[in-house]
Amino acid sequence: MRDDGLLYRLDAAVDRGLLGRGTAHRIALVAGMRNAVPSDASSSAVFSGEEWGRVLGLSRAAIHKHVEHLRSVGFVITSVPRGGYRLDHPFDDLVVAEAVLPFVLGAFGPGATQSDASGPGTAGVVGLPYLYLPACGSTNQVLKQKATSFPSGTVMVTDEQTEGRGRLGRTWVSRAGEDLTFSVLLHPPLAPARAHLLSLAAALAVAEVLETIPGLEGEVGIKWPNDVLLGADKVCGILLEGAMDADRLQWAVAGIGLNVNSAPAELLGTLVPEARDEWLGRLRPTSLRARLGHEVPRAPLLAALFARLAVHWTGLGDEGTVAALLAGLRQRDVLAGRVVEVLSGPPENRLVVAGKAAGIGRDGQLLVRNEAAEVVAVFAGDVSVRSAGGAVC
Ligand code: BTN
Repeated sequence: MRDDGLLYRLDAAVDRGLLGRGTAHRIALVAGMRNAVPSDASSSAVFSGEEWGRVLGLSRAAIHKHVEHLRSVGFVITSVPRGGYRLDHPFDDLVVAEAVLPFVLGAFGPGATQSDASGPGTAGVVGLPYLYLPACGSTNQVLKQKATSFPSGTVMVTDEQTEGRGRLGRTWVSRAGEDLTFSVLLHPPLAPARAHLLSLAAALAVAEVLETIPGLEGEVGIKWPNDVLLGADKVCGILLEGAMDADRLQWAVAGIGLNVNSAPAELLGTLVPEARDEWLGRLRPTSLRARLGHEVPRAPLLAALFARLAVHWTGLGDEGTVAALLAGLRQRDVLAGRVVEVLSGPPENRLVVAGKAAGIGRDGQLLVRNEAAEVVAVFAGDVSVRSAGGAVC
């Protein structure tokens, strides 16, 4: 079924230089194949290459070439007699552009789309340009190298990250083809002193998306500054890096690792013993699958994350938006009322403050009431919760 709205949005993205023409054609084909209506109830939907050639102004040979490309990136498409094609397997666990952008651009109903509120290319859209590598060292590292030449909202997505980095110099492990591992480039009109709001906003966006997944209601929390937890275990980490001028952020790259379909034991098994001890000594990892007992398709989830991130990253310069962000964080603050210890992080790892967490301050800082009953505001650090027996976790 032809979707003129989608074709228009694809054209607009191509015209603005946010999407390659070939990728746009393949996205139209993927959406066409998935939305194809079966000719009768007993058969699967067949998609006519000839008809789509007419819609897109392409020859049948060009359509065939695009289908071959889609097969090469993981789509399972069967050729049927008389130039037809059939999508024989759901593709919603793939994270190539052709699998995720149909969701971003509203090809299957409003869902996670950002296209209703603002056309592609307008401020606040996350997901275009969409850069994908089957494997890379670190998506943050790759995107940082493009920070001055690509527009705000560009994403770098990978299926396998071999040198993933976490906060405070730690390692981040994600399983190839199972988790979500991506970075987003931003050129926010923010003063450097407010950069931390970007990572707080990212944590809130991730938490809000996870809360919409049936079975996770009431499970999601945020450990300041930006760990997203399911119960007591960590499901998502965020690493914000950036460069600044004297009075303005030049760019920021927000890297997000979300454990989706991996098994926590497998994640731990890939770590060297010292890294495993460090990780186990603090938050245990979990994944959506471990918590829900079933797999979660990554493509619509990634599109939903882009849409929510766009909402929370827009307008961080104005008071009302920041107040709403802080309210969302306070509602999900797992540290409030707990006895905590804040360390400066490596290499010194000195004690910044110990005491009872007293909520999140008006600038997004962690408030800790120390033994002298003074409230200390912490802007950065490594927070551990002291359990009843005195151990930290
Ligand atoms: C943390 O919790 O310490 C932050 C983890 C951040 C991991 C993500 S995965 C995508 C991006 N690329 C990286 O190398 N790190 C971030």
